[in-house]
Amino acid sequence: MADDRETRFGEPDDFREEVPEPLTTEDAPVADADLPAADSTPDAPAMGEEALQVEARAEAEAPTHGVAALFNRSRRGTYRAQSKSGGARAKGSGSRTKMVALPSDGIVPERDLYATPVLECRHLGIDFGGLHAVEDFNLIVGKTEIAGLIGPNGAGKTTVFNLLTKVYQPTRGTILLDGVDTHGMTPSKVAQAGIARTFQNIRLFSNLTVEENVEIGLHNQVRCGMWSSIFRLPKYWVSEHEFHKQALELLDIFSMADMAEITAGNLPYGAQRRLEIIRALATHPKLLLLDEPAAGMNPVETEDLMTNIRKIRDEFQIAIVLIEHDMDLVMNICEGIAVLNYGKIIAKGTPEEIQGNEQVIEAYLGSGAKGA
Ligand SMILES: Nc1ncnc2c1ncn2[C@@H]1O[C@H](COP(=O)(O)OP(=O)(O)O)[C@@H](O)[C@H]1O
Ligand SMILES: [Mg+2]
Repeated sequence: MADDRETRFGEPDDFREEVPEPLTTEDAPVADADLPAADSTPDAPAMGEEALQVEARAEAEAPTHGVAALFNRSRRGTYRAQSKSGGARAKGSGSRTKMVALPSDGIVPERDLYATPVLECRHLGIDFGGLHAVEDFNLIVGKTEIAGLIGPNGAGKTTVFNLLTKVYQPTRGTILLDGVDTHGMTPSKVAQAGIARTFQNIRLFSNLTVEENVEIGLHNQVRCGMWSSIFRLPKYWVSEHEFHKQALELLDIFSMADMAEITAGNLPYGAQRRLEIIRALATHPKLLLLDEPAAGMNPVETEDLMTNIRKIRDEFQIAIVLIEHDMDLVMNICEGIAVLNYGKIIAKGTPEEIQGNEQVIEAYLGSGAKGA
């Protein structure tokens, strides 16, 4: 049954060569701590000529059935992206990823089959008073998978991210990160173990420069002792130089190196969203969680974001889980999708399977299809 799950990323020869090792535990490397934050509410840039053209094309090409059609009706201007790809191991080549079923009721890209899944949630749940905000949440994410978590407003999507990052301790269930049980870990520990996230509302150090924001993420990558720092010994300057170099390299991924000196709060909205992703990446995560990364973006920015999410996965060979309202983005870049409604997963599968799923369509229609 799994063999006919052809989706868009790599072909079978894209396999990563890994020793077969299903769901075992092993020690995770140390990365960086959780980041404090300052909210900012920048204005979205005005839509230019190019964006309007893309928008017009989007309307013409919009799907006319299924979940994506529901969203396109309610969100005019959503860009229907062309499949862009590039890449090597976990690369998009324009063809669909082959998803394969695991014995434990999950699906992963075929290339990730023999690698420990970066994430496995088993019967995860949390209650807020009498509300089962998340219940019996089971999900497996492959080592280099781009996965989507969708569902109507209030479904529990952000709560899942808060559980994964230990903002909330689960009431029930288990979370394995790269095979390691995260039970009892603090937010900073789980960040060190390899989870990084961005937030539904942008959280940056808006008074610091772009580069400084990235360097905060890099902080644990280059270790420099207390005395070296206080007395500015040579090791301190080597570290500073290394931070600077790495920050610029990371910024370059999103063509933002020339913005390094700009105060983060002064960036246009789309650039702030990109910076937040770069800062998360600077912690060298194994799993990047993006909470509505396209929110407030115009169609051109959304298209760029889509390209950049693929680029991050291809270059860093990490897994990405995104919560997103924009169904075109989700259906275009996600390999596996889980749909949440009232805290429970009501469907899991490939984009094609999800788009045609009656329960999913019902869930969105039932809640007005206003946004995931
Ligand atoms: N800290 C909290 N205390 C009480 N209820 C909460 C808390 N966080 C989330 N919820 C509730 O959990 C449900 C899911 O919220 P959320 O995860 O933010 O939804 P989504 O991100 O899917 O829109 C909502 O009913 C919300 O009100
Ligand atoms: Mg949310």
